[in-house]
Amino acid sequence: MSRYSRITGTGSFLPPKRVTNAELAAQLAAQGVETSDDWIVERTGIRARHFAERDVSTSDLGVHAARSALEAAGRKASEIDLIIVATSTPDMVFPSSATILQNKLGIAGCPAFDLQAVCSGFVYALTVADSMIKSGAASKALVVGAEVFSRILDFTDRTTCVLFGDGAGAVVLEASDTPGILSSDLHADGKHVEILCVPGTVYGGKVHGNPLLRMDGQAVFKLAVGVLEDAARAALAKAGRTEADIDWLVPHQANIRIMQGTAKKLKLPMDKLIVTVDQHGNTSAASIPLALDVAVRSGKIRKGDTLMLEGVGGGFTWGAVLLDF
Ligand code: ACO
Repeated sequence: MSRYSRITGTGSFLPPKRVTNAELAAQLAAQGVETSDDWIVERTGIRARHFAERDVSTSDLGVHAARSALEAAGRKASEIDLIIVATSTPDMVFPSSATILQNKLGIAGCPAFDLQAVCSGFVYALTVADSMIKSGAASKALVVGAEVFSRILDFTDRTTCVLFGDGAGAVVLEASDTPGILSSDLHADGKHVEILCVPGTVYGGKVHGNPLLRMDGQAVFKLAVGVLEDAARAALAKAGRTEADIDWLVPHQANIRIMQGTAKKLKLPMDKLIVTVDQHGNTSAASIPLALDVAVRSGKIRKGDTLMLEGVGGGFTWGAVLLDF
């Protein structure tokens, strides 16, 4: 009998502090940085984002999302035998946020590691967990995307600081006799490092270089729509499915125009697109599991639906996962 993996529960968590565009614009204006609700909504679709308080870490957000996914799956933390946390804003340089989250869940022993693929982190992590389950290395995985992107934003740069937010999403992925995850398609191209990066690093006890996010938004935009279409088509082809089989497109929530552009290229009606970017902003690796959980809990996504998850981010990295929910 073939061994597959299937999502059995989803969860998410947003830090309570919600900042609307108007509130952010007022804060920025006090520092001489000019922006407006109109500009942000028109160019990105974002209306609000959540920011974590200073003493809240990625693993703090992640553990809330993880507990909620475990509850939805009807599983105890002690049953989990693999933890992967996709993040670019870990609690520490080391150890991984996954090990810290594991301890916060009150469990020990199972492998736990972080995966760094920026905004593609969740589709990468889901693919790795799927492979480990199929190989027999794990049978009940916790796959988390969690970020405190507010820590790496340059609040003097209006072209980036209005785009991002903090949050976490999680799924429990379990071994199953039936799929589950149907196919995935992952890619990276390191020649695009410069268009989206946080170039600073820790060296000799000090931060060397700029530790804040830098982005060439237009270059990212142009690359994103093309690669997302390619990855989605490749995932469909691997599974022997077509666009018509997709019930819901759950894309990385960066910019409504990129999401609509991808849906259009895949000939999907806009009402098959899950959108949370308006309320969350871009939460990087957390955005896909957050959007997934919101759509599941609102009753939009139902058991048996076919989902296309897809992400694109710094590196450049990109990828898609096709699954039966
Ligand atoms: N408020 C007001 N004006 C602004 C703001 C702002 N927050 N930001 C930029 N502007 C101005 C610019 O200065 C420019 O002014 P100018 O014409 O006088 O020079 C004007 O608005 C237009 O700027 P553009 O950069 O051309 O605006 P564009 O329509 O390309 O939108 C944006 C910019 C939103 C960043 C867009 O390019 C984009 O979404 N790119 C993709 C970003 C993305 O998806 N990143 C994440 C993917 S990976 C990851 O998530 C880590």
